[in-house]
Amino acid sequence: MANLQHNRYFCGLLISIFTSAYILSDKTIVNFLGIVFILFLMIQFGSKTYTGVYTTWIGPYLGHNINPRSLGRWAIVSGATDGLGLEYSRQLAANRMNIVLVSRSPEKLARVAAELEDEFKIETKTIVVDFSRSPTEYFEFLRDELGKLENIGILVNNVGICYDKPIPFDSTEVSLNFMQTLININIFAALTLTKIVLPFMMERNKGAIINIGSITSEIGLPFFSLYSSTKSFIQQFTADLSKEYFNTKIIFQYQYPSYITSKMSNFKKPTLFVPSPKSYVQYALKSLGLQTSSPIWPWHRIVIPLIHGYKFLMPGFTDDVTQFYAKCFWIGYLKRKIKRDKKQAYSNKQGDRESCQCSQSVTI
Ligand SMILES: NC(=O)c1ccc[n+]([C@@H]2O[C@H](COP(=O)([O-])OP(=O)(O)OC[C@H]3O[C@@H](n4cnc5c(N)ncnc54)[C@H](OP(=O)(O)O)[C@@H]3O)[C@@H](O)[C@H]2O)c1
Repeated sequence: MANLQHNRYFCGLLISIFTSAYILSDKTIVNFLGIVFILFLMIQFGSKTYTGVYTTWIGPYLGHNINPRSLGRWAIVSGATDGLGLEYSRQLAANRMNIVLVSRSPEKLARVAAELEDEFKIETKTIVVDFSRSPTEYFEFLRDELGKLENIGILVNNVGICYDKPIPFDSTEVSLNFMQTLININIFAALTLTKIVLPFMMERNKGAIINIGSITSEIGLPFFSLYSSTKSFIQQFTADLSKEYFNTKIIFQYQYPSYITSKMSNFKKPTLFVPSPKSYVQYALKSLGLQTSSPIWPWHRIVIPLIHGYKFLMPGFTDDVTQFYAKCFWIGYLKRKIKRDKKQAYSNKQGDRESCQCSQSVTI
């Protein structure tokens, strides 16, 4: 982080030297302002590019990042049986950390735990919790179980759910129960685990709390409004905690990826812009201690400065793009639904006709 600070001071110094030289050379003020603006943009671009390259490749290569194992013996991962959570568990285990797998399906937990123990020769602990329930139902139990561990180094607040299709907020599908479940899983799971684990980390003045968000907290996502709002909550929560505990050695990291191949996203094949959980987590682990709030995946990182650049240069543009994207999403969904309904109606009709012919033949 200190390197990035120096980078900014260096940019400030460059601007000051250039400004002084320009004033001394006696050119017109309009000329001067134009050049300062272009210089400002170039420095912003250069500084962002340097930060991205440093925190993604150079820093990890030079060993400026933090080795997860140096933070403690145990890592806790919520939603550890699939997707990102499963991959985090695997890669932390490969880093010789013992893993606490927290999820809702006992059989899946047992299978993953056995695989990790067998492959990486580490210890595991499984905790069955259904995070869709009210946190008051599992808080004490979770605290007792996690309290038995010594040396908790990492907490990955990964568990999260999203809608499986776009839904307008006034729809009856967004019921009170639906809202409660989404908030319990996407917000309360992270709050509860952080509340339990943070005091243990404070005792040792060491640890990392990694919160998995989504790019939707940066750009919003109409028709998925509850999902993107829960992620914005987690983003702000992480940012504020990192300031609250700035004088400790506890790391708070907020990750906001775009699509990753998983059950949730329904993307099966990895591409440049849709990484596999394995590739994503490789970058995520290398970013520890270097990136506090980041989309992590390099190709997702390119999109964010563009969005912020447009926000700066053309206020409202990003909102328009998000709105357009959401509308396309919604229209696409409606088209698919109409097609599906028509197909269903057609096959129902066929079924009726066949059963009708059947009953006729019986009568004959
Ligand atoms: N995939 C993406 O494109 C994407 C993009 C941006 C952000 N993210 C974020 O990344 C995180 C992980 O997403 P993913 O795609 O890896 O999800 P995923 O493949 O659907 O896996 C979700 C995990 O959470 C567990 N889980 C679900 N509901 C639970 C509950 N009520 N109680 C306890 N555990 C529960 C699942 O357990 P079971 O196996 O028992 O169901 C599973 O282990 C989420 O926070 C998501 O918002 C994902």
